[in-house]
Amino acid sequence: MASSRAVPFTFRGRRGSVEPGETLLEHLASRGLPTLQRSIRYHRPRAPFCGIGHCTNCLVRVNGEPNVRACRYLPQAGDSVTTTNAWPSPEHDLMGLLDVVFLRGLDTLHGFRRPAWATPVFQRIVRRLAGYGPIAAASAAAPPTATAPIDLDVLVIGAGPAGRQAGHRLADAGRSVGLLDRGVIAAPPDRVALFPRTTAVFLPPPHSGGDRPFEAVAFEEPDRGRLFRVRTVVLASGAYDASLLFTGNDRPGVMTADGALSMAPGERAPPFHRALIVGGGARAAEMLDRFGAHTEALVAPGPISPEVTRRASGLSVALYPRTLLLSASGRGRVRHVRLLSRGGGPEFSVAVDAIVLAHRRLPHAQLLFQAGAQMEWRGTAGSYFPVLGPGSQTTVPGLYAVGEVAGFSDGVAAEASALAAADAILGRNVPSPGVRAPDAPNELVGYYRDLLRFPAGLGKQVACACEDVLLEELREATARGYRGLEVVKRYTGLGTGLCQGRYCLPEALLILSILEARSPPEVGYIRQRPPVIPTPLSALAELPEPAPEST
Ligand code: FES
Repeated sequence: MASSRAVPFTFRGRRGSVEPGETLLEHLASRGLPTLQRSIRYHRPRAPFCGIGHCTNCLVRVNGEPNVRACRYLPQAGDSVTTTNAWPSPEHDLMGLLDVVFLRGLDTLHGFRRPAWATPVFQRIVRRLAGYGPIAAASAAAPPTATAPIDLDVLVIGAGPAGRQAGHRLADAGRSVGLLDRGVIAAPPDRVALFPRTTAVFLPPPHSGGDRPFEAVAFEEPDRGRLFRVRTVVLASGAYDASLLFTGNDRPGVMTADGALSMAPGERAPPFHRALIVGGGARAAEMLDRFGAHTEALVAPGPISPEVTRRASGLSVALYPRTLLLSASGRGRVRHVRLLSRGGGPEFSVAVDAIVLAHRRLPHAQLLFQAGAQMEWRGTAGSYFPVLGPGSQTTVPGLYAVGEVAGFSDGVAAEASALAAADAILGRNVPSPGVRAPDAPNELVGYYRDLLRFPAGLGKQVACACEDVLLEELREATARGYRGLEVVKRYTGLGTGLCQGRYCLPEALLILSILEARSPPEVGYIRQRPPVIPTPLSALAELPEPAPEST
């Protein structure tokens, strides 16, 4: 029953209410897994995937404004929320016929050139289908006025344990410190200026003049731009759960561990009853702790840790180490998965109603790329991390990276890296920032090599969910001689969607390294362009003029 503080709103014409601070997605997921979206090319149904405001699977329209993320939106009294880009509803969309007609993909680059007279017709149809609906009518709001820049000694980006440790120590020593985070900042450190629900979207390389060489652009939700001018930046932006390639990997019910947690905060029941957890390490153990009673089986690309085995045995969860997840199928949402042991044996099927991806964590490293920090490939994690010197200093003077974004996944090491960075900034003796785990080849390369031997079967292997780019298109690009991630991105459109490549590029990098028979560092990476999350132009229009030298 709704409390007296409940916030009333309507969703697709039905009345509902949320408690203050409850997101729209939390509310919807408490009634079952919602289908909110259709994919852009094939109009395949999509349900929330990442839960942290990066994918395109929970976009809704609020009071006429499109592209609002349900997982981040806190409904306001009287809001009218509707779904978008589907008719008559995201569950039953007539345009979903595209998915059936174009089983092997819709070639928007080369198709429909003949007969020539049909090309304009085709283009008109494509324009109608693509995108997420028209933009809202122009509001009569006053034009944005420039906000004053915020001058600080140190800007800490990310308010997780590592960012807070660093900010706390620096503020204790008398430095003016700002701490920003995309979420609400709980239990703030003393004497630190807080910027909650704020994301740094652009961190250009420092300019040489003046005593505040960094000019970081940030976006405070819902619509305010901020410019920070600072001497030093501590990046503690953390990590997120990666995606995985398999047939049907975009079915409703496939979600990351972040996504599962966001839909079932605290003690809430998740929107599934018998999930398949993917992963054999610490994150998978965490998922078993939280969702063990709602888990049917656990499958891992490689070995399963003793910790996970111990937890699973107490829960009667079936374990499948070194096993391929070939496909997920089911109308409306995932109902079955098809598995195959990498050691041999027949394929088999398991009935599940969700797939929770908890097999690897990737760093939120976009700002490091933007700032020009030198990055190195770490095979164990299958990602690029910053090259670090003493005190967690990157190769960019004045830019430090601490915690998970720097590759310190263990809590003790993450804290050590934060304190080392703070001490280095304060000019104190710098203790060791902690030791990153030794590097080893990525087990997913072998996993994907095995997977690529199997045909997709009935269904699509989606390499880029935002833009509906299929694995087939990566194969075709390679066969045509396009090499390297940046080139393949330009050719196929992979990585050009709203998530800015967070979920597709790391997997595509491993796949291309197999298709091109080169190591991932040779396949390279893309040029990381700002902003790191979609930012309203009105927020950017509020920013003061940058210093001439940094223009
Ligand atoms: S589930 Fe909301 S953006 Fe991914």
